[in-house]
Amino acid sequence: MAQTVYVSPSILAADFLNLGAELDSVRNADFIHYDVMDGDFVPNISFGPGILRTVKRGTDLPVDVHMMVSNPDEVFKDYLDAGADILTFHLEAAKHAHRMVDEIHKRGRRASVAINPGTAVSSLDAIIDYLDMVLVMSVNPGFSGQRFIEHTYTQLNKLTTLCRSHSVRPMIEIDGGISPKNASQVVAAGANVLVGGSAVFDAPDHAQAVEDMRTCGMRGIDLRSRA
Ligand code: DX5
Ligand code: ZN
Repeated sequence: MAQTVYVSPSILAADFLNLGAELDSVRNADFIHYDVMDGDFVPNISFGPGILRTVKRGTDLPVDVHMMVSNPDEVFKDYLDAGADILTFHLEAAKHAHRMVDEIHKRGRRASVAINPGTAVSSLDAIIDYLDMVLVMSVNPGFSGQRFIEHTYTQLNKLTTLCRSHSVRPMIEIDGGISPKNASQVVAAGANVLVGGSAVFDAPDHAQAVEDMRTCGMRGIDLRSRA
């Protein structure tokens, strides 16, 4: 099976004054990562479904929406209506996870569940069979530019084992503190979608930073096959 690494730049770290140009600068990426923060589930507020509609007009890439909200069951349809292509909700906040996944699929979109660094991978056991993607947080969510938590490697290893035991292969997205420096290691541990906030938008050349993430990530695939 062809193994690929996808790069998803997080526009939380972009220059909002020039959002159109920022989106254009990463058109060589695979997805656009859109971080929704409600000031309750996480200690920060970002943007909602209105700006998502604007972002959809500014890119041809699929938009990967990461909802960091306390009430995903109540608001997730707003993000489907606004055009989310991949929709992630946090397991810690979900009341009826399967119901949301079903609805996301009914609307022809990809469904994903996120877990915080402090959440046990085993809590995905009841839902993993139905997911297109799992998002593993490698920082406590809320801000761009935080330091990668090393325990994430253990989380990724456990998730790879869980997926194997269920004979499923969801995409595994890793989010927080990812850069060309650790891209190959997280891919070697099982990730294949790399979110890059500050590593992409703080770099002098955004497209080059996307390419560097991808190249370094692909080295991780080689490490996997040698293991
Ligand atoms: C953190 C967000 C991330 C963030 C990543 O809560 O979910 O997507 O924008 O930013 P970096 O890559 O700078 O850690
Ligand atoms: Zn995110």
